[in-house]
Amino acid sequence: MVHNVHFEMMTKKNTTLGEFIIENQNSFQYSSGELSKLINAIRLAAKVVNHEVNKAGLIDVLGAAGDTNIQGEDQQKLDVLANDKFIQTLKNREIVCGIASEEEDDFISINSNDENHQNKYVVLIDPLDGSSNIDVNVSVGTIFSIYRRITPVGTPVTLEDFLQPGDQQVAAGYIIYGTSTMLVYTTGDGVNGFTLNPAIGTFYLSHPNMQFPKTGKIYSVNEGNYTHFPQGVKDYIKHCQKEEGDRPYTSRYIGSLVSDFHRNMIKGGIYMYPKSSIASNGKLRLLYECNPMAFIAEQAQGKASDGHQRILEIKPTELHERVPFFCGSTAMVTKAEEFIQKYH
Ligand code: AHG
Ligand code: MN
Ligand code: MN
Repeated sequence: MVHNVHFEMMTKKNTTLGEFIIENQNSFQYSSGELSKLINAIRLAAKVVNHEVNKAGLIDVLGAAGDTNIQGEDQQKLDVLANDKFIQTLKNREIVCGIASEEEDDFISINSNDENHQNKYVVLIDPLDGSSNIDVNVSVGTIFSIYRRITPVGTPVTLEDFLQPGDQQVAAGYIIYGTSTMLVYTTGDGVNGFTLNPAIGTFYLSHPNMQFPKTGKIYSVNEGNYTHFPQGVKDYIKHCQKEEGDRPYTSRYIGSLVSDFHRNMIKGGIYMYPKSSIASNGKLRLLYECNPMAFIAEQAQGKASDGHQRILEIKPTELHERVPFFCGSTAMVTKAEEFIQKYH
């Protein structure tokens, strides 16, 4: 009977994402309803992409699209499709003045030279994160990051609107297309997770006030690159593996940042994508991946660092720049920093 009780509890918690957005609108610092509309548009795009991801084995969307993105990576068909769906949805609803995407060479300006357009937000997205997992039916995600433009409304957006440090984010979130589909986001007032009921196409608040445990027992890193890592990172990995106190930790690496992050936030852990002798700044992109995840992590009592400084304080210099990334339970990230900083 215990499981029935649990089931009842879940069904009683029936706040929908739509209701939550409306209820919380007044808590935004500059509330005008525009940010709510924007999050609603992301909610819609998430459902559309979810639909495509779920039927991926049945229609012709698996495999490479035959093109490369600006970073020289092969684009998968779902990368392109997710990119198009998010951009279309945001463009059609005319609620942002600019979009930058991991899959686009340059930022897109939306009617922002029309003085009647008063939209003040720009969105940055990684439309499909973990694309190497698409063809093998493993969880993938979408990451988004929202800023207020710094140039005046009614004028064309410029690069500087996108190159703001992460601590200027107004909202950030991710969608995880996993065993269930979830939308997790923050507007700077904690982190909340919503699970999609696919039968009726509605997201319900299932994970209110998500928080990283202070410490954990999971480390997530691509150990195939071990020999190329800086000595401090190698030492930290050995520390994780050492039998002492609550160690050894266990290793879990999905290869989708969103999925690895999500698991670590629930269970406690650290995600690492260090620089290496083959990738001088690691692989992850500051604007589309690290900043939004760092904002969510900090809002969930976690920590995000490049090994030396807080991710959110880095001043970006180009749209597609990469940065080493250490993110997760605060005590673990602090420990990793200690090892790394012994070397410079
Ligand atoms: P994307 O699919 O958007 O290019 O991102 C993939 C990223 C990240 O999600 C993942 O953790 C990492 O790349 C995996 O890289 P490796 O295969 O080098 O471990
Ligand atoms: Mn990614
Ligand atoms: Mn991607």
